[in-house]
Amino acid sequence: MKICMMGLGYIGLPTAVMFAQHDIDVHGVDINEELVKKINKKELTIQEPGLYEKMCNVIENGRFTASTSPTNADVFIIAVPTPITSDKKADLSFVYAAVRMILPYLESGRLVVVESTVPPRTIEDKIIPILSESRLEVGKDLLVSHSPERVLPGKLIEELIWNDRIVGGINEESCLRTVFLYKHFVKGNIYMTDARTAEMVKLIENTYRDVNIALANEFAEIGEKLELNIMEAITLANYHPRVNIHAPGPGVGGHCIAVDPYFIIEQAPEESKLITLARNINEKAPYRIVSLIEKSVENINNPVITLLGLAYKGNTSDLRESPSLVILEELEKKGYQVKLHDPHTCEFFPGKSNTIEESVKDTDCLVILNDHNEYKSFNFQTLKNLFHTRNIIDTKNILNHQTLREHGFNCIQIGTPFKINNNWR
Ligand SMILES: NC(=O)c1ccc[n+]([C@@H]2O[C@H](COP(=O)([O-])OP(=O)(O)OC[C@H]3O[C@@H](n4cnc5c(N)ncnc54)[C@H](O)[C@@H]3O)[C@@H](O)[C@H]2O)c1
Repeated sequence: MKICMMGLGYIGLPTAVMFAQHDIDVHGVDINEELVKKINKKELTIQEPGLYEKMCNVIENGRFTASTSPTNADVFIIAVPTPITSDKKADLSFVYAAVRMILPYLESGRLVVVESTVPPRTIEDKIIPILSESRLEVGKDLLVSHSPERVLPGKLIEELIWNDRIVGGINEESCLRTVFLYKHFVKGNIYMTDARTAEMVKLIENTYRDVNIALANEFAEIGEKLELNIMEAITLANYHPRVNIHAPGPGVGGHCIAVDPYFIIEQAPEESKLITLARNINEKAPYRIVSLIEKSVENINNPVITLLGLAYKGNTSDLRESPSLVILEELEKKGYQVKLHDPHTCEFFPGKSNTIEESVKDTDCLVILNDHNEYKSFNFQTLKNLFHTRNIIDTKNILNHQTLREHGFNCIQIGTPFKINNNWR
């Protein structure tokens, strides 16, 4: 069997490597020439535990090749981006382009699997008409499925293998062929459904998480107003066996949770009132952090602010839709001097420091924006003399606030009023 994988990003590359590791010939295609060159030189542009060794292995044994154009194959998998436009509509242009690119290579008996996240009915209403231009009878000569990816960056390989997978075929034969394909490496359950349902499953998952985070962010505002510690309240509420409230934070980032709910809103705006409200709350969250920062430095002349963690998610280098970037932009717009640190992003940012020590020097407010391990285990009290003013805003609730307070720090958490009297405990 031979697979042609369209898109070699966070999803396409590890998936291609997994298939190649299981004795399938895989040709990876990406329109980004630089990326293809790097892959062929065995250079990785994403940080993902275990991926580098596996990729080198399948390149060396000849199972995996990469170029900028497709090739004949038995199976074509589409794993290209599906961002949103500036007016929050699904931008499916990459998916359409990738499907058009494979048209000349399609023959009877082939299978096309769309892994990219797409709005409900995209396969039926948009992809099948394009595939029909091949003059093959879709559903008979050409099988088609949607199998959304639900892995977590940072745990991609593990989750590719162990997560349950949804396969939504346009008919039973498409489902069965797709299940057979993924069984080469998936050890989780594989559930079969129709394409429309599979599209919605993925969107429900991310929308559930977005709404849950919006609820936590709303609780945080309530905690600040009513002068109680919302983190403690949420932790205690979650001891209830049927309650699982997510954590409030600086906002929602990434290519999925901050984007996918809009795919539902676009298709059914009148019916998506709660989903729309949740998006609004989470989009405002970074601006709430900016207000907290401003409040903490309001009596300081020309304050220096340090942001720790630019990636939207801890222990990754993924900057897509990162709330940290919104906070950075907003602070710079307001004229603050901002220092940055992130050990995982190699992008050049003016003001980016090489070490935590360098970033903390002379700062008036240190803001933890993600939970990289480097920050979780760091004893900031050892650097207390480097600070100009010992303000720390911990938006991820990862530091030992008690110890920091004992070292003279003013620790601010989301969902906790500036001054809370816990002296009796
Ligand atoms: N990253 C995640 O954690 C994650 C998780 C679940 C689902 N998804 C979904 O998977 C899909 C892919 O996401 P990703 O994170 O891998 O994106 P990505 O941006 O990391 O990678 C996509 C790659 O596709 C390439 N590309 C664009 N058009 C192409 C074309 N016509 N032919 C070949 N290559 C093309 C791009 O150059 C890019 O390298 C998206 O729909 C996303 O929503 C992502």
